[in-house]
Amino acid sequence: MTTATLTPLLEIAGLRASYGEAEVLRGIDLRVDAGEIVALLGRNGAGRSTLAKAVMGLVARHGSVRLDGVETSQWRTCDLARHGIAYVAETRDLFPTLTVRQNLLLGLRAGRRFAHVCEPLLASLPLLARRLDVRAGVLSGGEQQMLAMARAMAGEPVLLILDEPTEGLAPAVVAQIADWLDVLAKQGIGVLLIEQKLSIALRLAQRVYLMGRGEIAFAGTPAGLAEHHETLRHWLEWSNEGSTFAL
Ligand SMILES: Nc1ncnc2c1ncn2[C@@H]1O[C@H](COP(=O)(O)OP(=O)(O)OP(=O)(O)O)[C@@H](O)[C@H]1O
Ligand SMILES: [Mg+2]
Repeated sequence: MTTATLTPLLEIAGLRASYGEAEVLRGIDLRVDAGEIVALLGRNGAGRSTLAKAVMGLVARHGSVRLDGVETSQWRTCDLARHGIAYVAETRDLFPTLTVRQNLLLGLRAGRRFAHVCEPLLASLPLLARRLDVRAGVLSGGEQQMLAMARAMAGEPVLLILDEPTEGLAPAVVAQIADWLDVLAKQGIGVLLIEQKLSIALRLAQRVYLMGRGEIAFAGTPAGLAEHHETLRHWLEWSNEGSTFAL
């Protein structure tokens, strides 16, 4: 009997990227399966955003990036998006003078309808659903983040890359985003969640990678990482006093 091995949704191998002389990614291996939330942790400047940009073809890169087994490392950003990778940058990149509805419409694939694609998405984002005719620029930070993620999902991707979606948001909003990511993963979407907070990774991710100075310093489960006090102390601003994660 042969054992079927699932092709990873995203498989990165030996990925390198530099800004001028400075090598920022120094041979990254990472995998995200369909329906899995994978957290990528690291301190400021570790290279996490550069990794997302390298996958998306937004910085020059060397190495292998496979989507569903297909090599994409030479593809253009627009082709990566067309084949199902959605990316929400730290900057969110919304159109502030357009309404929530108009921003969402811009995320749709050609020929797809708002009612079919966006309304089901909004069912799990009640805060945003109530603000469809409001200009994106006047939304709160949390609402803007939800809109950026919903617009990314309007393109019906198979993989969602989120760069620090919970940064600076109130705990109640973070909880809503976390619940929504859970819903997406249960629908089979793969999520690569760039984070700085171990608490979020512990709550959400099935697997976690910790990056330090352009290399993977730890790969495993969030609970496994939480036990690695030395690794945490070295690569994250972490303290286990009172059993809390102060990140
Ligand atoms: N456009 C750029 N030109 C030159 N250096 C850059 C550029 N973007 C990032 N860097 C440098 O590359 C390194 C990695 O940056 P990156 O943004 O990937 O880190 P990060 O892990 O996302 O951290 P953070 O989001 O907290 O800044 C840092 O030293 C940063 O200063
Ligand atoms: Mg970053």
